[in-house]
Amino acid sequence: MRLVTLDEISTKEPFDCGDSDLNGFFIDDAANYQGQMLAKTYVLIEDDGKIIAYFSLLNDKISQTTIEKNLWRKVKGKFPHDKHMGSYPAVKIGRLAVSLEHRGKQLGTGLISAVKQILVNDESVSACRFLTVDAYKDALPFYEKNGFKFLVNNIEDCEYTVPMYYDLMQLR
Ligand SMILES: CC(C)(COP(=O)(O)OP(=O)(O)OC[C@H]1O[C@@H](n2cnc3c(N)ncnc32)[C@H](O)[C@@H]1OP(=O)(O)O)[C@@H](O)C(=O)NCCC(=O)NCCS
Repeated sequence: MRLVTLDEISTKEPFDCGDSDLNGFFIDDAANYQGQMLAKTYVLIEDDGKIIAYFSLLNDKISQTTIEKNLWRKVKGKFPHDKHMGSYPAVKIGRLAVSLEHRGKQLGTGLISAVKQILVNDESVSACRFLTVDAYKDALPFYEKNGFKFLVNNIEDCEYTVPMYYDLMQLR
């Protein structure tokens, strides 16, 4: 298997992760998002080209204005005093889906780890401190196992997705 960019494959290959929104994004929207420079999609494929999983990334920030005070203090507390700012740079996992056929084989974890490594790698073009995601409620245990923390105090306040973050500094 190998990881390629969306441009390198035909998005008409069938893909089913069990979630119609995520299937639909991959088949119908991912190329348009990429064309408009709104999200970049990467695809894990088998040697014969079958789609195993995909994820998309876009720029983001964790901002004082969008999270509760105690959580902001926690985020800001990670930085020395002279680096206290109103927001901190992040990259967001816009979508992530593993095909039903390949679930539970640590592939989702492997993809998250690969993204983390790429972002902390010295050759990354731009600096970002956090990896963020608006996690589906069903997938919260998955992101927690991958080291993500909540950006809300009470997940019951969130309807469908829960904002979470991972501090990339722990990999330095
Ligand atoms: C969530 C998803 C990407 C996980 O991918 P995966 O390759 O199956 O996950 P992994 O095999 O790496 O799982 C790692 C751990 O998380 C757990 N986990 C994964 N998905 C889970 C879920 N939905 N609920 C509870 N635990 C889950 C696994 O049991 C595993 O635990 P273990 O290490 O103790 O065995 C995949 O299930 C998926 O595509 N789901 C549908 C779409 C979705 O919800 N995407 C996330 C959008 S925010």
